[in-house]
Amino acid sequence: MRTKYAAGNWKMNKTFEEGKILFSEVTNMVKDELVNPNVKVVMGVPFPYLSSFANLINTEKVALAAQNCHPKASGAYTGETSVPMLKSVGVSYVIIGHSERREYFEESDAFIAQKVDSILAEELTPIFCCGETLAQREDGVHFDFVRGQLSNSLFHLSADALKKVVIAYEPIWAIGTGVTASSEQAQEMHKVLRDHLASKYGQEVADEVSILYGGSVKPNNAEELFAQPDVDGGLVGGASLDSRGFTDIAKSFPG
Ligand code: PGA
Repeated sequence: MRTKYAAGNWKMNKTFEEGKILFSEVTNMVKDELVNPNVKVVMGVPFPYLSSFANLINTEKVALAAQNCHPKASGAYTGETSVPMLKSVGVSYVIIGHSERREYFEESDAFIAQKVDSILAEELTPIFCCGETLAQREDGVHFDFVRGQLSNSLFHLSADALKKVVIAYEPIWAIGTGVTASSEQAQEMHKVLRDHLASKYGQEVADEVSILYGGSVKPNNAEELFAQPDVDGGLVGGASLDSRGFTDIAKSFPG
């Protein structure tokens, strides 16, 4: 059975003290309340807090994510953070290819592919984001566009490596807008993406890859989204900043 994920993406929010309270609240609630053994809670917090928050984790149900990385292991890259550095402070997941990084920092599919390799080389898990703009959806090119994002950044991997990637489909028009993709729209795209993986790697491999949905996931819509057969959880922005709501999202999986 595929691992199910409630992954939080705090983005550039919370001071250290605020974050410490939020992170502790979530780990404690998840430890006490989350009973589904197949669900993993991942929190993507700002870089300066990672090493400190690693010590707040008191349950295997919770893991720490960074929101970005540089593909090189070390060197003259002022201001950047490498995967070995992240690993050395207790990070196990790295969010890459988020639409905000693609848009504001002009990150290309090829650059993101290098990050995938460096994350897997350190045996961490990439959470690879993809998703179309509203204009692309309206033009009817959304399936091809997102398939292309997968091909360009993931299809150089071996089947064994691909199985270690978590994919997050995040339609850009749904991020931070309060407009969620309907559960039908999410399922439709997730199925398209799984079929695309199957076309290259075979169905058995495709069936092992967790595909998360992101874009205005909230406590009141998570249950319906997570009930879809190809939706393996959520990458949650705004709603991950509230401990009660985020924990409730993690408890929204069927079974
Ligand atoms: P949102 O963000 O939940 O606030 O829409 C999701 C994301 O960007 O990962």
